[in-house]
Amino acid sequence: MSDSRVIPAAHSASSSSHPPQSLVNALSRALSRREAKSARRRLTVLPQETVDFSSNDFLSLGTSPAYRNRFMTHLNNAPDSFPFASGGSRLLDGNSAYAEELERFVADFHQAPTALLFNSGFDANVGVLSSIPQPGDVILYDELIHASAHEGMRLSRAGKRVMFPHSSAAGLRDALEAQINEDPSVRNGTKNVFIVVESIYSMDGDVAPIKDFIQVVDDLLPHQNGYFMVDEAHSTGVFGPRGSGVVQELGVQDRMFIRVHTFGKALASHGAMVLCGQETKDYLINYARSLIYTTALGFPFLASIRTAYELLANGETESVGTIQFMQSGHNFAFTNQEKQLQLRVQELIRHLHTRLHSLRTDQSVLFEVDHFPTSPIFSLRTSKPRQLAAFCQQNGFIVRAIMPPTIPEGKERVRVCLHSGNTEAEIEGLVQTIQSWLDQCEMRSANL
Ligand SMILES: Cc1ncc(COP(=O)(O)O)c(C=O)c1O
Repeated sequence: MSDSRVIPAAHSASSSSHPPQSLVNALSRALSRREAKSARRRLTVLPQETVDFSSNDFLSLGTSPAYRNRFMTHLNNAPDSFPFASGGSRLLDGNSAYAEELERFVADFHQAPTALLFNSGFDANVGVLSSIPQPGDVILYDELIHASAHEGMRLSRAGKRVMFPHSSAAGLRDALEAQINEDPSVRNGTKNVFIVVESIYSMDGDVAPIKDFIQVVDDLLPHQNGYFMVDEAHSTGVFGPRGSGVVQELGVQDRMFIRVHTFGKALASHGAMVLCGQETKDYLINYARSLIYTTALGFPFLASIRTAYELLANGETESVGTIQFMQSGHNFAFTNQEKQLQLRVQELIRHLHTRLHSLRTDQSVLFEVDHFPTSPIFSLRTSKPRQLAAFCQQNGFIVRAIMPPTIPEGKERVRVCLHSGNTEAEIEGLVQTIQSWLDQCEMRSANL
């Protein structure tokens, strides 16, 4: 019996006016289109002897002996019978008492009711956004939200997804008012509204005005049907008391429905946790497909997450020794005496900020510094990002040109990331290199 919906390949090819095209040809045409726009992505391996002004290893934990030693101790202390591989999905054989204790540890550290481990921040955002908004609900999202949030929203059953201008409380207010005016169920609280933001944006490095957003939601949604979902990927370890994030720095953790903390950036590890209430956690365990249908992280990853959180919780650094352990059970008592690595990175941020603003060029299209104070991410806005990045790389400083489609057209830049392991001498080297490039560009344009 034939299925009338299936068109045999030979028939479709012969009836088409186009000659048969192989899939590979179509793929290479897509690549050529990217190439033509200078937007083709490539994998690169960095040479060893370079200075890292690019990775998200903001606290330099990836190369920290304190981190490595503690991690190795955790691995070595595991009994021989303890499996290193998780062996399956969290819902089948991939769960462990160790994973559950780690979730409690991280939840307590972040002053959250519960935490749920995902294999990555990407999976966490996809899991949350694809499953939690209910049919008919509304999602309002910042225009610069990460690709993983877009992926989750694309899969979600929400009735509407509405973008608002980047980090604009007025923009959020307009977008929310429009929904309220359009649909009485938003106003009367029958439909839920999700506000999806990051606390620090990965490309621009700016901090979201979360308190202003809360004000907007309080003003316009008196039935408390507004739910914040905040991605803290870039603030984890770097901002807030002991690196607990922007939300805890602001003291608004009780107002967040979901917080996502990822471990692949400042925590030198892998995976992510969703901080939420117990009901929400149970729901995700049942409905988040990016959690259910994947092999859970194995013990070495869990141990590395544990290592990073112990360092944060203890206020430890490699350079100044151990500061008093401030934990009793899991009741963390935050004080102002911690944050050595955070302090170091903040020192370097101020230094680089000053040095970059001292650079001289006659052509502002060539160079403008875009930087949010206290952020380890700097945007060097230039009309020639690839050339500037290549020049820095040739001189041993790894920075990256960030091009569309990763960022919107016209927002090209060179992204510079600072780490607590960078030195003032390295910063000086980078700044001098940028100045040489600017001088060369000026000379070239003067000779035209
Ligand atoms: C804001 C943001 N959210 C989520 C992710 C994804 O996290 P992960 O690398 O753990 O998948 C990233 C990483 O690029 C990010 O920048």
